[in-house]
Amino acid sequence: MKFFADTAEIDEIVALAETGMVDGVTTNPSLIMKSGRDILEVTKEICQLVDGPVSAEVVSTDAEAMIAEGRKLAKIAENIAIKVPLTWDGLKACKTLTTEGNMVNVTLCFSANQALLAAKAGATFISPFVGRLDDINLDGLELIADIRTIYDNYDFQTQILAASARTVNHISQCALIGADVVTAPPSVIRKLADHVLTDKGLDTFMKDWAKTGQKIL
Ligand code: E4P
Repeated sequence: MKFFADTAEIDEIVALAETGMVDGVTTNPSLIMKSGRDILEVTKEICQLVDGPVSAEVVSTDAEAMIAEGRKLAKIAENIAIKVPLTWDGLKACKTLTTEGNMVNVTLCFSANQALLAAKAGATFISPFVGRLDDINLDGLELIADIRTIYDNYDFQTQILAASARTVNHISQCALIGADVVTAPPSVIRKLADHVLTDKGLDTFMKDWAKTGQKIL
């Protein structure tokens, strides 16, 4: 499973990339706002740091304007994935932009039917939002499983990019279900390494090592 970092913070991406954990990056208008940076500048910087797909989102709501914005965003770098919302206009923009050879990430997906439409429109990625469904007492992971089944039934090549992952459990469950990618804040990806028995075991090893009086270097 690929890990995408869900952030527009350069420092966070650099730090996570040191461990090889960044296969791509997703941004959205809220993350750009939080970064305080210009979208074109910060996205270009991210694309220079990361080899994999970097999602940059359009902000218009009609297809023609989305297509124009998408074309402009695609010029930033070769690894741009143009992010469009899962509306009828967004699907139209997806079809045009993928036909032109761009990667397209169809975002704000909350149902299996929406995911089916995105695949038929040629999306490179579909982004179902796990956490936001859980927020309203629906089952975000069940949606990932349903989309996996539908895409496998018809051999759709659209990659399932599980988005809005807020917990380590979301990530492990998405991996078990077979999501192609999960995008999560770097803080959540870092938490995957945590285990109380690892901390306890390391503490014991360090104490015993100190008693030997030895050094390796
Ligand atoms: C997806 O690409 C979005 O950027 C993101 O995962 C949304 O997450 P949130 O629901 O935690 O804002």
